[in-house]
Amino acid sequence: MTDSSSDAPGKPAPSGQAMWGGRFSDKPAELMQAINVSIGFDRRLAAQDLEGSRAHAAMLQKTGVITSEDAQAILGGLDKIGAEIEAGTFPFREEFEDIHMNVEARLTELIGPAAGRLHTARSRNDQIALDFRMWVREACDRTLAQIKGLQRALIAKAEPNAATLMPGFTHLQPAQPVTFGHHLMAYVEMFGRDAGRFADARQRMNESPLGAAALAGSPFPIDRHMTAQALGFDAPLANSLDAVADRDFALEALAAATICAVHLSRLAEEIVIWMTPQFGFIKLTDAFTSGSSIMPQKKNPDAAELVRAKAGRMLGAFTQLAVVMKGLPLTYSKDMQEDKVPAFEAFDALELSLRAMAGMVADLQPAVETMEKAAGAGFSTATDLADWLVRELGLPFREAHHITGAAVKRAEQLGCDLPSLPLTDLQALEPRITQSVYKVLTPAASVASRMSYGGTAPDQVRGQIKRWKEILA
Ligand code: ARG
Repeated sequence: MTDSSSDAPGKPAPSGQAMWGGRFSDKPAELMQAINVSIGFDRRLAAQDLEGSRAHAAMLQKTGVITSEDAQAILGGLDKIGAEIEAGTFPFREEFEDIHMNVEARLTELIGPAAGRLHTARSRNDQIALDFRMWVREACDRTLAQIKGLQRALIAKAEPNAATLMPGFTHLQPAQPVTFGHHLMAYVEMFGRDAGRFADARQRMNESPLGAAALAGSPFPIDRHMTAQALGFDAPLANSLDAVADRDFALEALAAATICAVHLSRLAEEIVIWMTPQFGFIKLTDAFTSGSSIMPQKKNPDAAELVRAKAGRMLGAFTQLAVVMKGLPLTYSKDMQEDKVPAFEAFDALELSLRAMAGMVADLQPAVETMEKAAGAGFSTATDLADWLVRELGLPFREAHHITGAAVKRAEQLGCDLPSLPLTDLQALEPRITQSVYKVLTPAASVASRMSYGGTAPDQVRGQIKRWKEILA
């Protein structure tokens, strides 16, 4: 697409004002044009606008509202415009305000007065509601595909690491050992629900506003079911006022985008933490890191940091649109022209983030030894000791918890970890403790024992990987 504002060849184009010139005798103030114009951003709706116009023209012909000669001329002209847009030669002109009037002006230049029949039984109000809805619908579809791509990358990394030990954290303090595969699969679940939210939103938004016209419907014998079907909608929206007035479809998609971005930012934050030399859990190649202009040793996780930051755009976009919409009386108000930029920005950022994250996940390599060592640090198998006391000696869990706490304190005094705490020290706390307790105190044993459904035992993790592979196949 070009930003050319020069006139196209052929008949001089009417100015935007001429669209309603019957009522107006003066041109708009320059400032009015500056605040009113939207072609700078709604040109991104050109493809949807043309598709909607094609369906509308075909329907007008079928219902006898326009002649087939006019319909053919219109459809031919729309094809030419489509080719111009594709070739980057379409003249997007500010004097025609928005995408709808730019297309109509160009159509007039190309086919003459027949162009004026395309807008029969239609208003820019149902037109923009349609274009924007179709754009958001496509954005949901693209996002859904990218979420799947990210899930596949996570699964591919989880599979060889189903038994790779790492510390599980609460409060970012070592809690219990888990496996790296289990940790990655947690995100597969989160992104799975994100996909579900986009799919739900998509289904709910899939009703067509076209034919609501300005707000009240049309006196022409139009067939809204026909256009709805032609444009891939399940049905026409059942209330014309609702059709032109609401933007909940975009709000819902932006809410889904925000939640997805929150998930992305948490994974991004973990990548940042894991990459620090202090943690040293993973390595990223040069592909997703950058250096410092002054500190030669640096390898910074910039891509992860930017994914983390971009969550702000999604939430900002949702907030922006919600604030634009709140308190607007039915039906259309020009405020609603401000609905598009936040959605464009949010989905641009989300799609980029999803792709970058899939790339980073594929790229990252776990430092298996460092992770396994860390998995045993911080007395991470203390719960396993307490559980052993409950299981083998029949102690109430509270008492077992107390004894284990004392064992941790003793190990801390001796400067050792739980698996190397001498049996005599354990027996000083509870004489019935036997040598066999040590079998449960290694991180590997701890992890392997957590066979409850959804637990971190490698076999459980492999089962979940298998399940997800089938879902995504
Ligand atoms: N450019 C407008 C928008 O984005 C199109 C609808 C204009 N409708 C109107 N009644 N002025 O919302």
